[in-house]
Amino acid sequence: MKTHTQPHTNGSSLLHHPPKHIVKKANVKDYEKTYARSIEDREGFWADEAKKLKWYKKWQQVLDDSEKPFYKWFTGGKINIVGNAIDRHLETHRRNKLAMIWEGEPGDVKTLSYHALNREVSKFANVLKSMGVKKGEIVTIYMPQIPELPIAMLACAKIGAMHSVVYGGFSVEALAGRISDANSRVLVTADGGWRRGKITDLKTIANEAMDRSPTIEVCISVKRTGQEVHMENDRDFWYHDLMQLPIAAPRCDTEVMDSEDPLFILFTSGTTGKPKGLVHTHGGYSVYTSSTHRNVFDIKDEDRWWCAADPGWITGHSYLVYGPLINGATIMMYEGAPNHPYPNRWWNMIEKYGITILYTSPTAIRGLMRFGEQWPRRHDLSSLRLLGSVGEPINPEAWRWYHEVIGRGECPIMDTWWQTETGGMMIAPLPVTPLKPGSATKPLFGIEVAVVDDNANEVQPGEEGKLVIKAPWPGMARTIFGDPDRYVDTYWKQYEEKGWYKAGDSARIDEDGYIWIIGRIDDVIKVSGYRLGTAEVESALVSHSDVSEAAAIALPHEIKGNAIHTYVILKAGVHGSKKLEEELKKHVSSEMGPIAKPENVHFLESLPKTRSGKIMRRVLKARAMGLDEGDLSTLED
Ligand code: PRX
Repeated sequence: MKTHTQPHTNGSSLLHHPPKHIVKKANVKDYEKTYARSIEDREGFWADEAKKLKWYKKWQQVLDDSEKPFYKWFTGGKINIVGNAIDRHLETHRRNKLAMIWEGEPGDVKTLSYHALNREVSKFANVLKSMGVKKGEIVTIYMPQIPELPIAMLACAKIGAMHSVVYGGFSVEALAGRISDANSRVLVTADGGWRRGKITDLKTIANEAMDRSPTIEVCISVKRTGQEVHMENDRDFWYHDLMQLPIAAPRCDTEVMDSEDPLFILFTSGTTGKPKGLVHTHGGYSVYTSSTHRNVFDIKDEDRWWCAADPGWITGHSYLVYGPLINGATIMMYEGAPNHPYPNRWWNMIEKYGITILYTSPTAIRGLMRFGEQWPRRHDLSSLRLLGSVGEPINPEAWRWYHEVIGRGECPIMDTWWQTETGGMMIAPLPVTPLKPGSATKPLFGIEVAVVDDNANEVQPGEEGKLVIKAPWPGMARTIFGDPDRYVDTYWKQYEEKGWYKAGDSARIDEDGYIWIIGRIDDVIKVSGYRLGTAEVESALVSHSDVSEAAAIALPHEIKGNAIHTYVILKAGVHGSKKLEEELKKHVSSEMGPIAKPENVHFLESLPKTRSGKIMRRVLKARAMGLDEGDLSTLED
């Protein structure tokens, strides 16, 4: 299992047709027809999707493109995502349906009906209000995967505050930077979480981050592990203490929001500089996540939906929390490592809870595949109906294992391509679509894509080019928080005349119109499906007192998809050693988080640079892989 590249054929011989019972029950039976309609009358299509939601006031205009590329959707409409994710279910049979099944790593279980979820969210919303949280303010959330994480997100949304969730695997510098950029006054965290039988030290990291970014006035901690943590008198509160006070009343009105009011920011890595906070809204995001979730995963009232992503990333926002709750599904959430205490943990939970749809990443599949099929074979996985993949290209070996061993050869795999910026899935099959392993297949309704060269010419079928999206969609990020110019430059500048969105990925479209995503064309690295920027890893390295310059690149890795390899120039008088290499790896891990820990650190005398001083990462990569270094004419030395 060395290669992650897809076959260069159009893969027709590999077509996997959906089983009859799937086609018979599918919510959408005719992709081509619905797609054609959605493109001919895009606004009409989205208006129909929007009508499936609860609006306090109907929109006046579906799409307002008067300030391109700052598109607005459903303007004049009044809505709140919580009105759809919770409130409206309370008036139906879903009131007593399970909204959430949660299992902690040590084996503790919690379940919440929609009624109970509403109660917890309302109580915490009132707590936030009592802490002075106002509409439009950004609350930072830094938590393990426990029920209080979605509860905190929903509580913010309910009162019109925005959330900025920082992935619980990030460390001090990453958290501090995101708190400062959001200018957050309130932080919600936990004393720790369970991961592989050990406690993750969230509160200690949070304390250090608060020291570095002093905007936080109130820190609320959930007691998850019970370990000793440092709390400061006038700043720190325990979640369970606050939730017992009269301020935590179980009723709270859901704030009526404008369709375009921001719902959250989510930081993600870009090509250069600091991570950027993408802004998503109440109206368009509600419509887009629920519509794509319903169509791609053919969601039914009796489904038990498990999106195994961490809520700290966009997949968790859109398809663990918001999309599925809007669709009234029962969501599954698990706190810990997939192989703890044994590699059958996931398969055991699928059997135990009767999970019908599993949505995860190729990395997770490859990681579990390596333990062998005897682990899943011990369990009855017959409740599974559909499988999903997201975050990186899925290699054919992992696809086949997922399909045959986990899905009994009967569960179609929805390989979904999208990004933090897109808010929801963009290219993905429906359950009725014939599949080619490794291809995300076709664009979803209302989405038009092309693969083009630098001059906006579409490339030939089978040829590699840049992936663009030709028209706006409701789930799109509206801007980069605090930096609208960067939003324009990053995504819209290159194909400005055409008005196309540049995804930052390279891709190929075969003769059957199937899309094959190849990977990032910029300096974004996907490690285990997690998105990191070379710039962040480099800046963590140079923050070490022995390092003068650094470069980071991604090289293929059997399980993680990509791994980070780094090159550093040390300060004068410092000599490279195995000990220093280990120290630098640890330094990156403690500044950024374990996912950013480099595979190795190479000590160099100089780095390949252009005459203007830009590090040529492609040269480092070609050398490391023993490939042709390409055009070196711009190389300085
Ligand atoms: O390179 C693509 C890859 O993940 C990038 C987006 O990362 P992020 O914003 O973290 O969102 C990940 C979850 C939606 C894309 O630019 N990517 C995502 N899904 C796929 C993928 N690459 C290939 N196939 C996919 N299904």
